Amino acid sequence: MTALTAARDLFTDLTGSAPDGIWSAPGRVNLIGEHTDYNEGFVLPFAIQHRTYAAVGLRADDRIRVTSSFAHLTVDCALADLDRMFPVESQGADRDVPEWSAYVLGIAWALRALRPDAVTPGVDIAIASDVPVGAGLSSSAAIEGSVASALNDLWSLGLDPVTLAQVGRRAENEAVGAPTGIMDQMASMLGRPDAATFLDCRTLETRSVPTRFTAEHLELLVIDTQVTHAHSTGGYRERRASCELGAELLGIRSLRDADTSDLPRAAELMDDVTFRRVRHILTENQRVLDTVAALTEQGPRAIGDLLVASHASMRDDFEISVPELDLAVETALAHGAIGARMTGGGFGGAAIALIEHDAVASVSDAVAQAFADAGFTAPNIFTVHPSEGPRRDA
Ligand code: GLA
Repeated sequence: MTALTAARDLFTDLTGSAPDGIWSAPGRVNLIGEHTDYNEGFVLPFAIQHRTYAAVGLRADDRIRVTSSFAHLTVDCALADLDRMFPVESQGADRDVPEWSAYVLGIAWALRALRPDAVTPGVDIAIASDVPVGAGLSSSAAIEGSVASALNDLWSLGLDPVTLAQVGRRAENEAVGAPTGIMDQMASMLGRPDAATFLDCRTLETRSVPTRFTAEHLELLVIDTQVTHAHSTGGYRERRASCELGAELLGIRSLRDADTSDLPRAAELMDDVTFRRVRHILTENQRVLDTVAALTEQGPRAIGDLLVASHASMRDDFEISVPELDLAVETALAHGAIGARMTGGGFGGAAIALIEHDAVASVSDAVAQAFADAGFTAPNIFTVHPSEGPRRDA
C-alpha cells in the first residue's frame, strides 16, 4: 500500500468519510553544509522522492484530531487548547502529547498565531509517510510541510512557501522543543526535480543549483545506518551552545560573521574544543560555496573531495559522527565512490555516497558486507534524487 492510500484509509477509519484533500511534502537529504543553518550560514540540501501524506478534512466544530501510521493513537483537543499547550517552556520536557503529534499540532498552533484573524475551523488529519524515520532525512519537515500546505489551503491563508517553512521551524523549535535550524523546512518546501537548493540561512535567499547527477550517469546513495538519534536532546543542543560561545568569544552576532581567515584569532581566544567546533562551521561554510561553484562550473564529478573533507571535519572537529557512519563513508570510498559523507544532524542517521550509476549494486554490497563483518545492524541502502516540494495529491 502506498503512503497516500494509507493516509486516505486512516482518515476514513477515523471519520467514516472521505477527506477534503490529500497533501504531501518531501523529506530531504543534505548534500553539504552541516550545522551551518543555525549559525546563519550556507547549506545545499535537496528534497527527495520520499514523501509524507496528510489526508485532511474540515470539521463543523473547533476540534483538531490527529492520527498517523506512526502510532495507533488519536490525539484530540480544541484548537484553542493549543495556545495553552505551546510554546513548550522547558525544551519539550513538559509537552504532554506524543512527539509525532506535536509536529502536527504545532503547525496548527503556529499558523493560528501568525494569522490570529483568520477563520480556522476544526480539522481531522491523518498522516502516513514513506520517509524513513530517524535516518536524518527530515521525516519531521515532511510532516510539517504536508500539514502546513493542507491547512494553508483549507484555512485560505495564502501564505508563501518561505513563510510556511518558517512556520514549520517554529513548530519544531517551540511545540516539539527541538532547537533545529531552518534548513530542513526550506529544503522540503522549495524542492525541485533535478536541482539542489542553495540557501543562505541568514537572508533566506535561495538559488536552485542543478545537480546533473542523472545526466552524468551518477547516483546519490543513502546508507541509513539504523542508528537512531534525537535532536531534542543531547549532542545537537551542546554543539549549538559551543557555536554560540565561539561567536561570543569572537565578539560577533553569529559565526556567519566570521570566515576561515579568522581561525588564527579564534585559536587564541578559545579552548581547544570550542575552537574545533568553530573551525568546522567556518570551513563548512566555505565548502558549501566551493561545492556550488564546482557544480555550476565543472559538474558533479568535481565535488567529491569537498564531500570527503566535510565528513572529516564532522568526524574530527565537530565530533558528531559514529563508527557506523565512518565505516559507511570509508567503504563507499574504497569501492570507488566519488565522494561520501554523513548527512544531517549526526550521532546516527545516514551517510551519502556519490557513485557511478553502474556501481549501485557493488557499493551497496560492499557496505552491507562491511557492516556484517563489524557486527553492526544491517544498513538500509537506497538511492535518492532531487524531487518536487509540497503538492496537493487529491
Ligand atoms: C538537523 C536539523 C537542521 C540542521 C541539521 C544539521 O537536520 O534539523 O536544522 O541543523 O541537523 O545540519
